[in-house]
Amino acid sequence: MPLIAPSVLSANFLDLGSDIDMINNSEADWFHVDVMDGRFVPNISFGMPVIKALKKQAKKPLDVHLMIVEPEKYFEDFKNAGADILTIHYEASTHLHRSLQAIKGLGMKAGVSLNPHTPVHLLEDIIQDIDLVLIMSVNPGFGGQKFIEQSFEKVRKLKKMITDRGCDTLIEIDGGVNLDNASKLVEAGVDVLVAGNTVFSSANPSDTIQKLKQSAK
Ligand code: DX5
Ligand code: ZN
Repeated sequence: MPLIAPSVLSANFLDLGSDIDMINNSEADWFHVDVMDGRFVPNISFGMPVIKALKKQAKKPLDVHLMIVEPEKYFEDFKNAGADILTIHYEASTHLHRSLQAIKGLGMKAGVSLNPHTPVHLLEDIIQDIDLVLIMSVNPGFGGQKFIEQSFEKVRKLKKMITDRGCDTLIEIDGGVNLDNASKLVEAGVDVLVAGNTVFSSANPSDTIQKLKQSAK
């Protein structure tokens, strides 16, 4: 069974507490928390105050996805805000190895995200140091976009790399995940499904989370 990480970006910010409780009481495994800076991506989301508030009420780990330039400046701040998993973008990291050690040194799991155009083979010499690879299956910046089909091939290639190297790196997929492609993604090697629009625009979000959880190989 895959891990399910509903994306808070699609929650109702006027009643965030209710959506946090819905996730707490559902079969979801993590909270997916998207941080955007208006520079790495053409959108701005939220930052430390919101994450701190989330952390107070969340009963599951915070999976924080940084879509920001110079992420290394803020590792400690995100740790203090409550991040359990901290994912940075390959494209925003000049010294990826150093950054991963710094994240782990602060006691968080370290993730690396790839934009749709970034090939997975670029991770060959660093895969053993990564706890989680987040494959972006849309261009980052917005929820509710259409899944890019080429992502399946990326997942398969990455899964092969991880298996060949004997690593325990998790594969997470983010963007356009729905009840139609979820099982096929798990079959291709995905361990963690992020879902924003699919969960929060559904009539029964908790039920949708359960359905995603049942996506089987
Ligand atoms: C997009 C974000 C995603 C987004 C996914 O840049 O990284 O986490 O919330 O939303 P959906 O599932 O609606 O594509
Ligand atoms: Zn995300």
